[in-house]
Amino acid sequence: MSISQEIKSRLDLVEIVEEYLPLRKSGSSYSGFCPFHPNTRTPAFVVFPESQTWRCFGACAEGGDVFSFVMKKEGWDFKEALRHLAERAGVELTPLSPRQQARQEVEDRLALLLDAAADYFHQLMLYAPQAEKARAYVADRQLSEETLATFRVGFALDSWDACRTHFLGQGYVLDELLEAGLLSKNDERGTTYDRFRDRLMIPIQDVSGRTVGFGARTLAPDGIPKYLNSPQTTLFDKSRLLFGLDTARRHIREARQAVIVEGYMDVMQAHQHGFRNVVAQMGTALTEPQLALLKRTTKRFVLALDADEAGAQATLRSLEVARQALDREAEVGGFDPRGLIRHEGRLQADIRIVTLPAGRDPDQIIRDDPGRWPALVAEARPVVAYVIDTYVGALDPGDAKAKTEAAAKILPLIGDVADPVEREHYRQHLARALGVDDRALRKMQASERPARGGPARSGARPVDPHAGKTGRPPSGKPRFELGKLFLTEQREIHYLRQVLGRPHLLSEVDDSLRRQEQPAISESDFGVAEDRMLFGRLRGLVYAGGFAGLDDLSAGLDHSSAQRLAYLLDDAVETSLAGRVGPTTETADSLALSMLNCRAETIRQQMNDLKQLMSQPDREQHAEVLATIGQMQARLLAIDRARAAMLTLNRRRSEERRALRPG
Ligand code: UTP
Ligand code: MN
Repeated sequence: MSISQEIKSRLDLVEIVEEYLPLRKSGSSYSGFCPFHPNTRTPAFVVFPESQTWRCFGACAEGGDVFSFVMKKEGWDFKEALRHLAERAGVELTPLSPRQQARQEVEDRLALLLDAAADYFHQLMLYAPQAEKARAYVADRQLSEETLATFRVGFALDSWDACRTHFLGQGYVLDELLEAGLLSKNDERGTTYDRFRDRLMIPIQDVSGRTVGFGARTLAPDGIPKYLNSPQTTLFDKSRLLFGLDTARRHIREARQAVIVEGYMDVMQAHQHGFRNVVAQMGTALTEPQLALLKRTTKRFVLALDADEAGAQATLRSLEVARQALDREAEVGGFDPRGLIRHEGRLQADIRIVTLPAGRDPDQIIRDDPGRWPALVAEARPVVAYVIDTYVGALDPGDAKAKTEAAAKILPLIGDVADPVEREHYRQHLARALGVDDRALRKMQASERPARGGPARSGARPVDPHAGKTGRPPSGKPRFELGKLFLTEQREIHYLRQVLGRPHLLSEVDDSLRRQEQPAISESDFGVAEDRMLFGRLRGLVYAGGFAGLDDLSAGLDHSSAQRLAYLLDDAVETSLAGRVGPTTETADSLALSMLNCRAETIRQQMNDLKQLMSQPDREQHAEVLATIGQMQARLLAIDRARAAMLTLNRRRSEERRALRPG
């Protein structure tokens, strides 16, 4: 994360804009009169809190982030904006430690490669003749083109070396490919081969949107394993990831609830039908780090579980994990037992469980009858009620020992419930279910209460009935997740690195774009404030013919852009740049293509914001928003056309090369 991103994640654009002009909330966005052009009739200025961006639908027809807002409004240059906003966000302008930086660079480089791999598999899926059966398969599973594009579902060729050859040709080295988990190694023979062959490829992103691995489904009816995942790598750790979380995150926030399912297909199908607060654990029981990830966005979880026995067992395990996750926090949070118990009470009360009809997973349920899904989710029952029924329901009513044991297991859970009335309710519920006197349970519960003083490890706890009223996040924590932008960011990093290494590429990329009637690269193509700054300078120098070297670029640079530049220039990357083969026109074309992808992605994100605006009936600027959406659609279409033309060109070139090759 660059310094500007760190700053952005800690500031609220709405708050800052409101210091300059009054905003009115409407739906999920805020609007007011644009401060950049004279207008008093229609409030054409809109702030989108989710994406932390602003846009004017009036005369200026511009948009941007918090940096561009204060720069425009105050007339600051980037350096000044940085100084002010950093201070406000409490971000110190000191560099990362060399170790942190090195680690981050390694991870980012791998993510970049995995991201390129996701693009590669996705392109194969869309265009390769060999992918016909994969296309038939996804059609059979009723995944729409849009869903395939959103999740970048791909196809790995039935080959031992197609992927290896492709990426070696792009200048990557074997070690990188191994480290990224794209290749496997035959230790005896010391050879490497493609890990994923003839499989449907589902890229997995981490919470910040970095591509970290793949889930790869067999296309054979009885293929084993059904899903082959990336091996454990620096980036890929199944127990710390939830599939779909990067896209689901803002929907989870909006819905104030996360639904956790079991599989990739379930998430994609749910997403396709507009149920976007759904994530999947990938074949593991719910883990502590997974819960910790989710807890940042919501405290309400619905676990949608298989009907079978394993499902019920898994639930109990998940609950155990949930309780432990909270206990653990007791230590990190610095011994505030009261606050922690409050926190725990809140979390416990928020886990709900729904069992799915026997033998069916969300994927099938949603496909058969989409309306059934929200109904099922709404039926989810509070965890305590669920546990009482499943656990006690399975007991032999004549077995007194088993009953005592059940009570001992379930009472602590009840003790964790924050609300005293609810607590009472559950204890009676348990008494009825067990067929025992409530007084006996009360006695048992009292005797289990821990001694006063230290925080308890487990067992029943006294709980503050005012839980939930002091929900302020601890200060200093990021308030916004800007991770969705990672993919576009990776592309801009890629572009800048290439262009920094060979500045003449800058104008060649522009030429390549112009040949397809696309505008040249401009500052607005960059999402990271430092990148806008660096690119602006570089382009100025290149086109003025005065680019003599990096010294020109870095002279008088502000601290955070200088740091960003150092990051972009790190030697690991330079070596792999030097290894890159192929004539520069091809590099320029492929950079142009990648920047077009970047543009398309950005436009799509902006359109999502705009579509939300349209769903509010009382907006004054409907017509303008609609016009903007129309323009964006036209731009997307033009980009698609340009992309198709470039891909054809690429293909023709590589065919010609093959034809020229001797033998
Ligand atoms: P399922 O077998 O229920 O798969 O495993 P699914 O998602 O319904 O798959 P489809 O519908 O047959 O395509 C649930 C999840 O468990 C993990 C995967 O994450 C899968 O989505 N899993 C399953 C594996 O990791 N490996 C396997 O071999 C099987
Ligand atoms: Mn399934």
